[in-house]
Amino acid sequence: MSEKKTAAVSIDGLTKVFRGALARESVVAVKELSLEVAPGEVYGLIGPNGSGKSTTMKVLLGLIRPSAGRTAIFGVDSTRVESRRQVGFLPENPYFYRHLTGRETLQFYGRLCGVGRGALRARIDELLELVELGHAARRPLRGYSKGMLQRIGLAQALVQEPRLVVLDEPTAGVDPAGSRKIRDLILELKQRGIAVVLSSHLLEQVQEVCDRVGIIFNGSMVQEGRLEDLISIENQTEIILKNASADLLERIRDLAEGADAEFVKMGQPRTTLESLFLRETEGREE
Ligand SMILES: Nc1ncnc2c1ncn2[C@@H]1O[C@H](COP(=O)(O)OP(=O)(O)O)[C@@H](O)[C@H]1O
Ligand SMILES: [Mg+2]
Repeated sequence: MSEKKTAAVSIDGLTKVFRGALARESVVAVKELSLEVAPGEVYGLIGPNGSGKSTTMKVLLGLIRPSAGRTAIFGVDSTRVESRRQVGFLPENPYFYRHLTGRETLQFYGRLCGVGRGALRARIDELLELVELGHAARRPLRGYSKGMLQRIGLAQALVQEPRLVVLDEPTAGVDPAGSRKIRDLILELKQRGIAVVLSSHLLEQVQEVCDRVGIIFNGSMVQEGRLEDLISIENQTEIILKNASADLLERIRDLAEGADAEFVKMGQPRTTLESLFLRETEGREE
């Protein structure tokens, strides 16, 4: 055996066909998809609705069987129950018991996962603090916002101290401040060495947290790599100056043109609408 660390996730030639009553009603949801996620890495699966992200995650988690190919978690095939020991999952539109409080929800899932009572109490306090829901721990979930529900879902996914968490559209339907909180949490998980696989149909929602992304379309991987590499424009360079005089800018322009470089653009950088919104609303929520 090589010394190479076992991948947190390995997906090898995965195909999933949903059979309909008639042959023409069959859907090829995932087609010969392969990818690997290293321990501690944050990987984003990006693609429009219906591209096969949730299906890929469900096969990985052993919830549905592949039609061809194989998937494994820390080297254990997803079809084996032991593969689920080290993984936490936040499904798309998770269903919770709305009459349970935040704390009761975590108690419920913790016991379901076989976490002992003594350890569970401490674990729940820690998780409630992590997801910033300590103040709402005694409130029933029916009073939670979408962002709070996603956060309690994330805490639920962490209750058995997994080394991998799978998050299906964790920020879908959550407002910008709530999405930011979830992204910060994902970064916190990464700090703790937990590998994360998340899906999204919005690239902007993942670009700040993912080490690598795979772009999936119609069930096939169309592009994969480090995000900076995928979105950087290779033959361009950006220079950002503070307090530059008009004269200096003019000289830089001349210098560039004299050196056969094409001068493309000069102006003030824009913030994103989302950053603007967050800045303006900071401290005003709740
Ligand atoms: N249980 C199912 N039966 C039949 N078709 C399905 C089933 N689940 C998903 N599909 C189809 O598979 C394709 C991929 O779906 P999905 O994995 O949910 O995509 P995504 O999560 O990227 O939106 C879609 O065309 C969807 O309609
Ligand atoms: Mg989906």
